[in-house]
Order: sequence, then C-alpha cells, then structure tokens
Amino acid sequence: MAKNKTVFFCRECGYESTKWMGQCPGCKQWDTFTEEPVVKKTAMRQPGITRTEPELLSKVAAVEDQRLLTGIQEFDRVLGGGIVIGSLVLVGGDPGIGKSTLLLQMSRELSDKQIKILYISGEESLKQIKIRADRLGVFHGELLLLSETNLDNIEDTIRKLMPQIVVIDSIQTMYKEEIGAAPGSVSQVRETTGILMHLAKGLEISIFIVGHVTKEGVVAGPKVLEHMVDTVLYFEGESKASYRILRAVKNRFGSTNEIGVFEMREKGLVEVTNPSEFMLQGKPEGEPGSVVTASMEGTRPILVEVQALICQTNFNMPRRTAAGTDYNRVNLLMAVLEKRLGIQLSGMDAYINVAGGMKINEPALDLAIVMAILSSYKNRSLDSRTICFGEIGLTGEVRAVNMAEQRVIEAGKMGFNAVLLPQMSKETISNTNIKLIGVRNIREIIKLFS
Ligand code: TYD
Ligand code: MG
Repeated sequence: MAKNKTVFFCRECGYESTKWMGQCPGCKQWDTFTEEPVVKKTAMRQPGITRTEPELLSKVAAVEDQRLLTGIQEFDRVLGGGIVIGSLVLVGGDPGIGKSTLLLQMSRELSDKQIKILYISGEESLKQIKIRADRLGVFHGELLLLSETNLDNIEDTIRKLMPQIVVIDSIQTMYKEEIGAAPGSVSQVRETTGILMHLAKGLEISIFIVGHVTKEGVVAGPKVLEHMVDTVLYFEGESKASYRILRAVKNRFGSTNEIGVFEMREKGLVEVTNPSEFMLQGKPEGEPGSVVTASMEGTRPILVEVQALICQTNFNMPRRTAAGTDYNRVNLLMAVLEKRLGIQLSGMDAYINVAGGMKINEPALDLAIVMAILSSYKNRSLDSRTICFGEIGLTGEVRAVNMAEQRVIEAGKMGFNAVLLPQMSKETISNTNIKLIGVRNIREIIKLFS
C-alpha cells in the first residue's frame, strides 16, 4: 500500500519542508516543525472565483473605500478610519488577552446600528457567549450567534444569511473536511483563511479572524496568515496589567503607526483616551532611578516612566535585565557610559524597567535610560517636573529624534515644565512656554547630577 505523503511546516511562519528540521530556516525559531499530510490540490480549488480580464489602470474607477464606523474610536483609528467593506482582518494576540471581548463589543456597537453581523465561535458555546455578553451590558440590536467549526457549514450559513460583518473566533478551531490535517495545523489554518478571503472579496463582507499566538503546542500561529489578510492587528498587554494595546502591524487601508489603548475592566474593555495619564499613574515623586520620557506610538506621544536600579553585584557576572525595552540596547548604553564618562558599571547589576508594562523600542528612549541609570548610580533624583528624550550614539553624542515638538507638547499637557532634549531637536521647536534644555553630548548631562 502506498505510504501517505506528509510534509513539515513551521508553526510560526509556515515554512514548508519535505523533511523535519530542528531550526526553521525561515524564522530561525527552534523546534517548530510539525508533520502534516499533503493537501490534495483538488481540495484546494476554490469555487466562486470568476475569471477576470486585465483592465487599463487609467480606466479603473477610483472609488473611496467604503467604511463602517464601529463607534469604538480607538478601534476605528487603528483600522485606518473604520472597517473597510469586504476586508479580511486578523486580530492576533495571546490567549486570554481580550480578543473575543473586543470583537463582541464591536459586534454590539455595530448591531446597535442595525448592521447585520454574525459572530461565529468555535471555542465557546452559545451559552458561554451569552454569559460574556451579559457581563458587557445591554445589547440593543440583533446579533446573530453561531457555534460551529466546520467551514463548509459556515460558508453555507454566510451565503444564506449574507451578513455585513462576520467574526470567526478563532481560526485555529476551524477545519475543512477535505484537508486531512487537524484543526489548528498550518494547512488547515491556511486553507480556511483562503476560503474566508474569497468569501470576503466575493460577497463584499468584512470578516474578522481571531488568531491565538501560541508559544508552544501544535497550533499554528497567526504569523502564518499575515500575508494572506488585508489587515493584521495585534492585541497586546501584560496579562497582569489591566491596559491593552491594539496595534496595526499591516494595513492595506491605513497606517500601521496607529495604536489603540484600552483598559480591561470588570464590564469589558474601556477606551483610554489619555494614555500618558494612565501610564504615569503611581509614579514615585523624587526617587532616584525614575525618569519620565515621551515615546511616540505612531503619531501619538505617550509619556512613560523609565526606571533603573543599579547596585553592586554579588556574582562574578553582573546581572542585567531590561523589561519593556531592548536588552542589547541597554548593554550598549551602559558601555557608552563606561567609556565616555568613565563610570564603573562593570561591577554593577543593572535592572531597567519601563513602568506600566509598555514595550518601547525606539532610539528616543536612550536618553531616558541613561538618565535613569545615572540617577540610580549617583543616588540622586531628577527634578520630577522634567522629562527627557533623545537618541545616543556610540561616541556619546545626543542625536535628534523625530516629532520632538509633539513630545514637548504632550509633556506640557501633562503638567511637566522642562524637557531635556537633543540640541538639534531643540532648535526645531519654537514658541513654547516649557523650558527646553538642549544637550549635545552625554558629558553635559553628568553636570546635572553634580
Ligand atoms: P477573552 O476575550 O476571552 O480573551 P481571548 O479571546 O483573547 O482569549 O478575555 C478573557 C479575559 O478577560 C479573562 O481573563 C477575563 C477578562 N475579562 C474581564 O476582565 N472583564 C470582562 O468584562 C470580560 C468579558 C473579560
Ligand atoms: Mg477568545
């Protein structure tokens, strides 16, 4: 009897190989390959695609994308100004972060506006969804629920009901019978997404797909689908902190710079319209090792607190940790401090933390990290009404950063009265009643501590 053919897929990025490999050549992750049966090509043929002829670009009518506003402003902004009709949106995130809650809240807002919406869950029974919905408050509109995992049935239902919006929660529970692999495998996840894509485009229905990010196990991650969908949103946050950030990492209909900030409360997600205030809650006043910086999240400045703790090490190798920012960058900045300012940090443990659980990886954070390290090392606090930002180069020079003015304005709004910033950036800012302290090199900031 002929042996059943199998292939190996990387669960993280979908890399395909005929043999098992320890490390994926595509995404360099270890131990991510799983064996799956080869999908027969006949099963992959999609119905409903019409043959089309090429058209002249000049003849193509440029129609503005039609958009539906969800009414959740943070969500609409991340989508690029509402939901584009006929788009396929992937909402990824760790299990339990609040994806189902967000999409159920979106469904509520839309159904309240008499928009026909179908929420399909493969993870929860109708009863469970009802319990969640009751927690979120009153649903005025008509919301259609379906608990189903068989994609053929889902397709039939969608074609029959013709809703305007469909939510698929989650793609890892959906399966198509013809494909021999288990639900959640790379082939299932890809095929089912492909079918949903054709449905969305063919019927002009906007479809939201939930994809769990999985660290281990046999479930394919949302990365496998990123190239297939129009928009990829990630819902992030520390599971212990209450705030959540919705970030667009790909958007065919808008900017990928936008973020939406939410807080998970007892009765669902609440929009956070002033993230700076939220992030600075509980900041200590006048403590060494704590500084505030302005970070750009897309076009939005957010003030965050950066903390450092520098202390004598008890080990042969000093311990260094960086929570919320790049570990290697912290090491580099410490090396710059050692070399350019002659500060002995090699025998010191260093713990750096971006308070509030935000993750920031922009160079403008450099100055704040350096200031926090110096402040903790010297055990002297900085003026609590001052913020700082700026990129630091290897010679210790403080380099200009983008959108300096927005950062300064945000500092003013939040009641800060002085900003330490690169001299080059200072020169671009006119008329502000905030005190601007321009620096060219980190040698100048050491004076602030003497
Ligand atoms: P959920 O939306 O189920 O996460 P996901 O779909 O991404 O797996 O979110 C579940 C978590 O959110 C759970 O830990 C409980 C919490 N939660 C609240 O704190 N308040 C609420 O109103 C709801 C509905 C959930
Ligand atoms: Mg869920």
